Amino acid sequence: MFWHPEMKPYTADTSFHFSFPRLTRTATLLCTAYAALLLNPEHALADSNNELVEQGRYIARIAGCNDCHTPGYMESGGKVPEDIWLTGDVLGWYGPWGTTYASNLRLILPKMTEAQWLTLAKSTQFRPPMPWFALRDMSERDLRALYQLVKQLGPAGNPAPAYLPPERTPNGPYVQFPSPPLQKNISR
Ligand code: HEC
Repeated sequence: MFWHPEMKPYTADTSFHFSFPRLTRTATLLCTAYAALLLNPEHALADSNNELVEQGRYIARIAGCNDCHTPGYMESGGKVPEDIWLTGDVLGWYGPWGTTYASNLRLILPKMTEAQWLTLAKSTQFRPPMPWFALRDMSERDLRALYQLVKQLGPAGNPAPAYLPPERTPNGPYVQFPSPPLQKNISR
């Protein structure tokens, strides 16, 4: 507290008589601040949501999601603007399972609730080369982080091409896995 020689000694102020109104005022201020926090918890929520989104960015970068689900990500060394992230790819993955395309997560995830996303991620085996086991083994917080990132980025792009069975050769660009599709299924 600021004290000036012309003021009464500080101790005079601390008597019950003088300090009571000040205490009441302090208590009122504290109560008002607490009530404001209770009535408007958005600040606290916004912070934790930003943290989740930031974590989502980190996972999309380092867990390989962008490598396959973001067009040009691998080729450009990760130099793809965030608004293109996870919009799927037309590059086919051709193997004994047929041809798969990395889905457009920006169109798929926002159609689900967070709970549906957690169930899908924990319990679904997708076709190769999707590392579905990475989703299965991911912590719930990390899965929520990815969901919140995609939700914040919003829907964008077109759906990835549809899956092709092994007997169909893809038209567009594709990566062929060493083991060819089942010969008996190929009609040439
Ligand atoms: C090596 C490439 C590759 C990587 C890495 C990869 N994916 Fe995939 N992902 C795919 C392909 C290909 C499919 C389509 C699989 C199919 O058709 O069954 C797919 C499908 C999915 C689907 C299913 C969507 C739908 O169509 O319903 C989800 C969800 C998904 N990936 C999320 C992720 C996430 C999250 C990561 C990062 C942890 C990731 N993927 C990493 C290639 C990849």
